[in-house]
Amino acid sequence: MNKKIDECLAFIDAFAPLVRDVADADIVIAPPYTLLHVMADRLKTTNISLAGQNMFYEEKGAFTGEISPAMLSDIGCEYVILGHSERRTIFAETDDLINKKIRAGRNFGLEIIFCVGETLAERESGRTFDVLKRQLQAGLKDIPHGGIVIAYEPVWAIGTGKTATTAEAQEAHEFIRTRLADMYGTAAAEMRILYGGSVTPENIDAVMSCADVDGALVGGASMKAESFARIVKFSK
Ligand code: PGA
Repeated sequence: MNKKIDECLAFIDAFAPLVRDVADADIVIAPPYTLLHVMADRLKTTNISLAGQNMFYEEKGAFTGEISPAMLSDIGCEYVILGHSERRTIFAETDDLINKKIRAGRNFGLEIIFCVGETLAERESGRTFDVLKRQLQAGLKDIPHGGIVIAYEPVWAIGTGKTATTAEAQEAHEFIRTRLADMYGTAAAEMRILYGGSVTPENIDAVMSCADVDGALVGGASMKAESFARIVKFSK
């Protein structure tokens, strides 16, 4: 829930030229709903795609305050983030609701950035893998693998300045990859698993050095053009 229209335009006009030559990474920006229209217009001539931060699962109707997958697609979104920990904790979204949203998003051709991750209490009580397994199995129930990107975001690392160590990130990503292989077989090797949680220009190279980390979901550090561009241009 950041940036007004003038701030959004200043950001994108500074950011897009910095990443114009990037051809080996998919760059996606997920602004709030109020910025999707101006952002879609600005992104037309760039190598940057647009995402929604959330959506409801119905196509249209009496769901006051909600935005549908058809609306996201109509405004130019190719992606949508679903299951973000803030949606789960602040807005009480359940695995079952997230599963419905994922199915609806895929039905409208959106690529899904599906977030999973444990809280600090869950990690400290040794339940990290149980939580990840439950979130993956319930969220992806009866969903084919195409168009699904997983984002592993340990809740304790989001917006806190605490990043998982590379060992912790790799361990969780490897676990997720193995669960995806249980569900989807060999296709799991091709699925992208992003790391999220206090990613910065300073730690992106280490994060991306993990074998099972295929990209990053960036919050705070994505809001300044230079900082996000450095993250996009990580080096291994
Ligand atoms: P952060 O946010 O990079 O600021 O920790 C990540 C997120 O909101 O998913």
